Amino acid sequence: MKIGIDKLAFATTPYYLTMEDLAQGRGEDPNKYLIGIGQDRQAVVPPTQDVVTLAAAAGEKLLTNEERDQVSTIIVATESGIDNSKATAIYVKRLLKLNDFTRAVEIKEACYSATAAIQFARGLVALKPQEKVLVIASDVARYGLNTGGEVTQGAGAVAMLITANPRVLAIEETSVAYAKDVMDFWRPLYSEEAMVDGKYSTNVYIDFFKQTWTRYQQLTGQTLADFTALAFHLPFTKMGKKALEAELGERDDTIATRMRANLKAEQAACRQVGNLYTGSLYLGLMSLLVNGDVQPGERIGLFSYGSGSEGEFYAGILQSGYQAGLGDLSEQLAARKRVDLATYEKNFNAQLGLKEEDVTFETPTDGQRFILAGQKNHQRQYVDLNED
Ligand code: COA
Repeated sequence: MKIGIDKLAFATTPYYLTMEDLAQGRGEDPNKYLIGIGQDRQAVVPPTQDVVTLAAAAGEKLLTNEERDQVSTIIVATESGIDNSKATAIYVKRLLKLNDFTRAVEIKEACYSATAAIQFARGLVALKPQEKVLVIASDVARYGLNTGGEVTQGAGAVAMLITANPRVLAIEETSVAYAKDVMDFWRPLYSEEAMVDGKYSTNVYIDFFKQTWTRYQQLTGQTLADFTALAFHLPFTKMGKKALEAELGERDDTIATRMRANLKAEQAACRQVGNLYTGSLYLGLMSLLVNGDVQPGERIGLFSYGSGSEGEFYAGILQSGYQAGLGDLSEQLAARKRVDLATYEKNFNAQLGLKEEDVTFETPTDGQRFILAGQKNHQRQYVDLNED
């Protein structure tokens, strides 16, 4: 039985900052950000948006009313959790009006956990093939103003339906997971911003890619020639280039040319949004399927990496109806509004964060349906504006 990704949908905030504006504000050469890091824009997060509202927006785009009733389990993968105890998935389940007889849970391992969620979902569907599992990767990548990581911020969510006989990607049996206790990126409970040893994390990422890819080839007997593309976790798009070039080296044959062209196709949407942490690999996959040279029946490799660290390499076969399962990625990115550096910084500093007191945010008129209206009695107030 084929099991895999039946459809995907993406949501981000309605605002972005250009990397030219950020570079100017930080006294850097714009080409460092545009070429050296490989980012053009990053999502700007208003205080009324967070991982719950982004996840709900992606889920709302994904599900038909019929599918809403068929979801047996919702797994929200995030490293930007808004509660140390209660699962983000419970709020999202309410906003999406899923059946009360639904299993709802949140999982975490930095940028990797969406891949774990997909593998767990595969197991659930293998046990009960009629079940549909909703996996949503949702994050706000927040490093801090004037930090080295600032240029690699971003925000958004990717919702995926994992089913039998999927329309987009049938996931193959072999996968290689690899874990080691490494301090390359972490966020202590008392901090709103991530702590990162940036250069070290890029080296660990490449090492984990090599470890998992080498073992995958040993287990399957496959080589690069068996793949039409490799999709990488993209905390910033140059990271994928570093990993691919570590494998390709001096190669410039047709396979290497195809791999490089399809990496550019994967990077296209990620350049516009910035880091989604858990969702980056899957926004990259959507971008690859929309912009790349890929055909049904071809194999796509996926490398997932979460600092701390966990990596996984796995693969899937592209299915014939894949275009129908992708939504309106390009239109959505084009519809966002540009904000200047001062507005970005104002939004950055206006987040609810670790505040304890009651807060009421002004209701936005930016078209976002699900909002964080504030906090009352230590409870976050999530509102569906279509219901008011
Ligand atoms: N034109 C073109 N390229 C330029 C440039 C210019 N004017 N100025 C610098 N660059 C290049 C550098 O050569 C470098 O390229 P390389 O990585 O291929 O060598 C790149 O831009 C980045 O410059 P660097 O000086 O290394 O940047 P930095 O010290 O600000 O650190 C990160 C970059 C990614 C380490 C930092 O943004 C970070 O910590 N990010 C968060 C961590 C992260 O995302 N880790 C990923 C693994 S999960």
